[in-house]
Amino acid sequence: MNELRFPEGFVWGVATSAFQIEGAAEADGRAPSIWDTCAARPGFIADGSDGRVACDHYHRYPEDVALMKELGVGAYRFSVAWPRVLPEGRGRVNAAGLDFYDRLVDALLAAGITPWSTLYHWDLPQCLEDIGGWTSRDVASAFVEYADAVTRRLGDRVKHWITHNEPWCASVLGYAQGEHAPGRKSWPDALAAAHHLLLSHGWGVPVIRSNARGADVGITLNLTHVDAASPSRWDQELANVVDGEINRWYLDPLFGRGYPEDIVSHHQREGHLPGGLEAFVQPQDLQAIRAPTDFLGVNFYTRALVRSERVPERENAPRTIPEPPDDQRTDMGWEVRPDALRALLVRLHEDYAPARIFITENGAAYATGPDADGRVQDDRRLAYVAGHLRACRAAIDAGVPLHGYFLWSLLDNFEWAFGYEKRFGIVWVDFETQQRIMKASGRWYARVVRANALPEEQAA
Ligand code: FCB
Repeated sequence: MNELRFPEGFVWGVATSAFQIEGAAEADGRAPSIWDTCAARPGFIADGSDGRVACDHYHRYPEDVALMKELGVGAYRFSVAWPRVLPEGRGRVNAAGLDFYDRLVDALLAAGITPWSTLYHWDLPQCLEDIGGWTSRDVASAFVEYADAVTRRLGDRVKHWITHNEPWCASVLGYAQGEHAPGRKSWPDALAAAHHLLLSHGWGVPVIRSNARGADVGITLNLTHVDAASPSRWDQELANVVDGEINRWYLDPLFGRGYPEDIVSHHQREGHLPGGLEAFVQPQDLQAIRAPTDFLGVNFYTRALVRSERVPERENAPRTIPEPPDDQRTDMGWEVRPDALRALLVRLHEDYAPARIFITENGAAYATGPDADGRVQDDRRLAYVAGHLRACRAAIDAGVPLHGYFLWSLLDNFEWAFGYEKRFGIVWVDFETQQRIMKASGRWYARVVRANALPEEQAA
């Protein structure tokens, strides 16, 4: 047998987030989040949809836990909705909102599935956006109240906590590029938001530890491997900036190095830091942000292939790395590059040496739906996951302390600005009837999980 085995104790999981699956927008005292507000803005969501019903997971969670049990996964990463728990953003705790997560956690534990909970997966209460959102330092302190309320209630049973999901997306896509909620287009706002996200992480870690005794606490970043499309100085310099903006701006302060100087200078040159870093970084902040954690969560989907628009004509030598053809892309247009995951993991280990790494998201959007027999034969998703699992295994062989993998996603769901058009699930969801169908990729993943190995067909 030439299957590709994973180390004993490797964690196999699936991931989701609250706003993308729960629905039940007004149930039990939930207040609106910034995503409810943005979804109501014409044109913000590609298919004009919203998260009001989504997968109706709030009511159907027993069925979804049963699906996870069928998959045999050992762990489930979900997020808690801040607007359910603290509908006014801070202060009054809504017990009925917490009750839902209580029920979910108990159902998971009864099914033998370890809960991994993310506190912030982008659904900021709208009332906190009204006081400045993440550009406001007060929102960082409100996060600590929220983290306290959640971990007090669930910390006896949930022993794996992730403070934030992808602060780059929450800050840059939300505040600079305007593609995500709250839909602002200001780099100064985005950089202040990024800082307050990191600060709230640092402030939150000790609070979580004191409420959830013995818990593992970490943060999840969306990280990528960056390639310049040519050896041209312009492409190379831009590749360094992209690496700095996406990877180092978050990794460096979290690992005690402060903000990377070359990228601070870049933002200053671009006018992104009108008041300097001092406008929002206070003396003890960097000390707080470097709070020791137990693991780094990595979300990986694709590499970044960087081409500068500024390469002068005479230097416009053919790009040594061409744009990938369409059949090497997922429905998101993202290039399929598992080798870049291996390179990223090795680099993280060499440059930052986190004690443990978990892939907290990896997966692919492909539209493949039920055939005439009602079966979903999503071979391309299966191949995507298999390729990335081989890359994980290669990274482990290279000495990277990679301890687990969470597939994004359990269910087809609300894919943010794309609405329901992009399907990432290993379970098909019919959004009219809420019927779930296990896809071929899901049945295959169940085999991988049970064997703790890639089957022979995908091992090489
Ligand atoms: C990540 C998000 C997740 C999902 C995937 C496709 O950036 O964390 O919620 O949208 O992308």
